[in-house]
Parts: sequence; C-alpha cells; structure tokens
Amino acid sequence: MSAPSAPATGRDRASPAAAGDGLAPDTGRPGFAVYLHWPFCAAKCPYCDFNSHVRHGGVDQQVYVDAFGAEIQAMRALSGPQVVTSIFFGGGTPSLMTPETVAAILNAVRGAWAVPEGIEITLEANPSSVEAARFRGYREAGVNRVSMGVQALNDADLKRLGRLHDRAEALRAIALARDIFPRMSFDLIYARPEQTVQAWSAELEEAISLAADHLSLYQLTIEEGTPFYGLHKAGKLIVPDDELSAELYEVTRQICERHGLPAYEVSNHARPGAESRHNLTYWRYGDYAGIGPGAHGRLSTAAGKIATATERMPETWLTQVGEAGHGMVEQYPLEVAEQADELLLMGLRLREGVDLSRWRMLSGRDLERDRIDFLVRHGMIEEMGSDRLRCTPKGMLVLDAVVADLAI
Ligand SMILES: C[S@@+](CC[C@H](N)C(=O)[O-])C[C@H]1O[C@@H](n2cnc3c(N)ncnc32)[C@H](O)[C@@H]1O
Ligand code: SF4
Repeated sequence: MSAPSAPATGRDRASPAAAGDGLAPDTGRPGFAVYLHWPFCAAKCPYCDFNSHVRHGGVDQQVYVDAFGAEIQAMRALSGPQVVTSIFFGGGTPSLMTPETVAAILNAVRGAWAVPEGIEITLEANPSSVEAARFRGYREAGVNRVSMGVQALNDADLKRLGRLHDRAEALRAIALARDIFPRMSFDLIYARPEQTVQAWSAELEEAISLAADHLSLYQLTIEEGTPFYGLHKAGKLIVPDDELSAELYEVTRQICERHGLPAYEVSNHARPGAESRHNLTYWRYGDYAGIGPGAHGRLSTAAGKIATATERMPETWLTQVGEAGHGMVEQYPLEVAEQADELLLMGLRLREGVDLSRWRMLSGRDLERDRIDFLVRHGMIEEMGSDRLRCTPKGMLVLDAVVADLAI
C-alpha cells in the first residue's frame, strides 16, 4: 500500500539493506520519500475507498505526465534540495500507466532531486494479464520492486471482491514479477465474508509458498460510502466478528513468523532486510513529497514541518496544475504537538516501536508514566530499554485506542 493518499501499502538484492542484512536501524533520520499517485482503475472494487476513478473514455497519459512534472517542481520548491531514499507509484492502479509514462515521471523526479542509483522504486500493480505484459517495460524504466494486489487465491472470493483477475492470472503474474523484478510483494485481504480460520490458514500457507520475501496482509475493512458498506448495513454482507477477526489476526502473525516473515508492521510481513523502505519512511515519520491527485505529503522546510494535500478529482487537479503549477489544496505548518502525535501514531504500528527521545524533543515533555504503566499492565504495550516503546500484538488490535490513551 501506498502513502498517505493511501499509505498505503519488498527486497532488493542490489541495495544497501538487502535480504539477510536485517532491518536497517531507526537512526532518527528516516529519509526523503517520493510518493506519486495514479488515480485511475479499470473498475472500482466494492470495498475500496482509495482515491481511484474509472474513466471508460480513457486517459491522455501525456497530459498527466506534464502535470506530474509541474507538481514535482512545485514540491521541489517547498522541500529544497534533497537526496531521495525511495520512490513509490501508488494508486489507484499505477500498472495502467504505460512504461513510457513511468519513465517520464521518474525522469522528472531525477530532474528535481538527487536520486541515487539502486534506491527502492516500487510500483503497485494489478495482476491482470494486460498489466503483467507491461512488467518488463517498468523494469526497463527503473522500477525495481512491484507490489501486487492479489487479494485472494481462489476464484469465488476474487469474484466476491469484484476483482477483474482470477486465480490463474494471479499465479502467472506472481511468477512473472518474481522473474523480472529484484523485489516483489503482494497483498491479500483476509477476514472476508464467511472465511474460516482453517481456510485462511491454508490460503496463507500457499501465499507464503508463492511469495518472495514480503507480504501485505490486510483485514477487510468495511469503509463508509462503498458498496460493501451498504450491503453490510443491510445485513447482506456478514464479516467475521471481533473475536474471529482477532483470531484471524493472530494466526496470520503466527504462520508468517513460523515461515520467517515476521510482521514488522501491523499488516506487513517480511524477511529481515526485505521490509519496504518507502513505507518505513512513513512509519518512522520521515519526510515525503506527495504528488498527483489526492496525495498527501510531509515536508521539513525552513518554517518547520508542513503537511500538504492535493485535489482528489483528477480532472480538477489537472486544471489547477495548469493554472497554479500545482494541485495543492492544503499546505499548513504542523504544530510540534501534532508532529509528536503523528510520530506516535505511525511508530506504534512498527514492531521496532517508537523512539521516545524523538517524541520528547517534539512535545517538550515525557509521556505520562501512569498511562504507560497502565497499558503495560494490560498487556497493550511494552517498554524496550529506557527509550523505546512498542505495541504488543494484543495492543496492535486496538492501536487507535492505545495511541489515544498515550497521547493525551
Ligand atoms: C491502493 S490498493 C492498490 C493496489 C491495486 N490497485 C489493487 O487493488 O490491486 C492497496 C491495497 O489496499 C488493500 N485494500 C483496499 N481497500 C481495502 C479494504 N477496504 N480493506 C482491506 N484492504 C483493502 C488491498 O489489498 C489493495 O491491494
Ligand atoms: S483496483 Fe485497487 S485501488 Fe482500484 S478500486 Fe480496486 S482496490 Fe481500489
């Protein structure tokens, strides 16, 4: 998964932290990531509330390439010179972009900031055969990691999730991606209607046997405003209750751990060293430029850390970029207290936890000792040495409540 348009949601044998090296330590300097949002999909999945739009008449990609180029320059003006540590094409469905579009946007990024050879460059892809046919072109354009939305490994569930691909296409796309890209990951959605622990466990075991060394495993969320929300409300879509969801979460964690892909974040599992460096930049609260319709960013400027957000509707975004040189509709300084909250919210998603000295520096105070003790006593968090804190697996299940309790 991608950034904070959808922070969303690898392994690069050629890169500094290749598989086996272990997770690069949290140095307190999490890097500068570039997120590019492609807001189009071939069809809208009934569970999805990402900023994604279907345009049956097609999309003039050159017009978007030019607009991305302009907005990249506008973000460069805000960020100043930077050394990019990762690039991520998220969506929507970036694999609807032609390889030429991807290459042109990457060139625009290289024109704006320093982009060292070999940094992680991820593209989110759907596994339909049409899109898989472009994989080689993406690799030639410089993409070295794909993150594929497989979602399920059986045809009945793929159909229910409204996906355009079937199991056979998913298996072919996984094999092709493993062949072409140095690193690849795929996404599955679990806690689906009627899914049992046994069925999910078997599917996950198969997924692990197909995977490289990174998997994103998301519990189905019923998002307001989606067709699934209406069906759920009307009692026509029954999803696992809290107890079963917790059990599914726990078996997911255990099975992945047993196969050497421990959870390094709530929904992300990797062999040590194969974590997504891009997403780690979000969770370690680094800077990221968010470019394209509906993208969010966090940039450190001379005036402090700022938040940015761009117009979500693609055509309106294009018009605005044409008129103003960027599609930003929000750009505001973050109070240090807000930054401290965000640091906690993001950092507690990680198994490595959060660095309390950074929190203290931002907030100018310590977390309240009695709140820490209370949450430790209830098995929600644990202290790691004197200055790190992390959620336990039990705490991860109610992460928002834990953060709300701590951040007061
Ligand atoms: C922005 S989507 C991009 C991937 C690509 N468009 C696709 O669907 O194959 C990122 C991932 O979020 C997950 N996702 C989207 N909506 C979700 C929901 N309501 N509940 C759980 N996971 C969801 C899916 O696993 C999806 O692959
Ligand atoms: S293809 Fe991906 S981004 Fe598009 S609607 Fe489906 S889940 Fe959402």
